Amino acid sequence: MVIGEAVGDIGVIGLAVMGQNLILNMNDHGFTVVAFNRTVSKVDEFLQNEAKGTKVIGAHSIEELAAKLKKPRRIMLMVKAGSAVDDFINLLLPHLEKGDIIIDGGNSEYLDSRRRTKDLESKGFLFVGSGVSGGEEGARHGPSLMPGGSAAAWPAIKDIFQGIAAKVGNEPCCDWVGEDGAGHFVKMVHNGIEYGDMQLIAEAYHIMRDVVGMTNDEMSEALAKWNKGFLDSFLIEITSDILKYKDEKGQHLVDKIRDAAGQKGTGKWTTMAALEYGIPVTLIGEAVFARCLSSLKDERVNASKQLKRPSPKFTGDRQKFIEQISYALYASKIISYAQGFMLFREAAKQLNWKLNNGGIALMWRGGCIIRSAFLGDIKKAFDKNPDLSNLLLDDFFKKAISDAQDGWRQVVSTAVLNGIPVPAMSSALSFYDGFASATLPANLIQAQRDYFGAHTYELMDAPGKFVHTNWTGRGGTTSSSTYSA
Ligand code: 6PG
Repeated sequence: MVIGEAVGDIGVIGLAVMGQNLILNMNDHGFTVVAFNRTVSKVDEFLQNEAKGTKVIGAHSIEELAAKLKKPRRIMLMVKAGSAVDDFINLLLPHLEKGDIIIDGGNSEYLDSRRRTKDLESKGFLFVGSGVSGGEEGARHGPSLMPGGSAAAWPAIKDIFQGIAAKVGNEPCCDWVGEDGAGHFVKMVHNGIEYGDMQLIAEAYHIMRDVVGMTNDEMSEALAKWNKGFLDSFLIEITSDILKYKDEKGQHLVDKIRDAAGQKGTGKWTTMAALEYGIPVTLIGEAVFARCLSSLKDERVNASKQLKRPSPKFTGDRQKFIEQISYALYASKIISYAQGFMLFREAAKQLNWKLNNGGIALMWRGGCIIRSAFLGDIKKAFDKNPDLSNLLLDDFFKKAISDAQDGWRQVVSTAVLNGIPVPAMSSALSFYDGFASATLPANLIQAQRDYFGAHTYELMDAPGKFVHTNWTGRGGTTSSSTYSA
């Protein structure tokens, strides 16, 4: 049975909003897309509505989808991360030929993408796990795309991916990220950074609202102003809009929204990866825990009636303090990105990836949720020195942190004295102070470990040589092993 001419440039499975918008975006850029959905009726609905008047072709079975695609076939899954991805891969394989490419554009775990790359390559197919960021709008008009996996697939998908991606100037916010799970790893860290940026803005809002006593409209204006300077970013822009938004009763909607944040897990994965690779990505970790704490609403309400904290009061120069808040946010944000890139560095080392840091900054510069002018500065730092060991050591960021430092310390201490939690801003500052300290009190921790568990320690003048002391005269001279997690 002939079920279709092979005219499709790419197939997309999954017609939820992200899938639909990506298809329309591909169509706008001259690619012929074959669309398929598990609930097949949705295919016709899509063709009769959103895709009406386009060149999009519908497929009503996997077999038809495969028959309508040019070879090597390129099929992008826009389905829920997890078992649905594996289910579709298994359904597809009998209809594919060696060299065909399966692309997963969901928020999948990078370890799954590593496994899928290995598995599909062993069967002669190619796999790409791609981060897609920018929400509905981005998918429709230019997302940030972060593809990784089978390198041989890149030349075959590059035109489509770079064609539909957001552009900064003429540069597409999409490039090949690296081996197996690298694309989804980079997207995961993007989302972790998104959590961090959002938490920082929320902390700034909390201080402005409860310590400075600003109204929503005043805060909206302050953020609109920030958005014209070094904090210029999508998240600051939308927050300014959110703060001034009024509902049908003419009241600020933000005040009516329950203060319990949800999360789908990518921030948690970033934190888990940070623990796994032993990199102190503290700000994202705090942002995840802040969401967890916020969601304990009932417990907090109960505790608030029993536990004392200071009543906020502000005395001082309001304008100056508001400016200092913007510096605290900026400095903390620099720390968060520095930590994210530290994680990339270590994961790349351990997983044998060659990550292009400047390329990652460019991919995030436009199209995605964390897009900002600031990412242009990160790109410049890595262009200047691709082997930069830490963003904080780049001249531009060294100066930026130094200029912001007084305000940052002022804001964190004011928040602490006024009983306002600032886990992201304060952990960023602690990280900075720790990273910038030649000596930390870990000598004492080593002594304690050796005292109670014979875990051994190194002497300052003999690093790498682990010794044990019988601290009490009661223990023996035998030490435990010196492995480190
Ligand atoms: C994007 C977003 C998108 C989404 C995440 C985070 O890049 O377009 O990161 O992936 O916002 O799912 O959602 P949660 O806050 O629910 O974890």
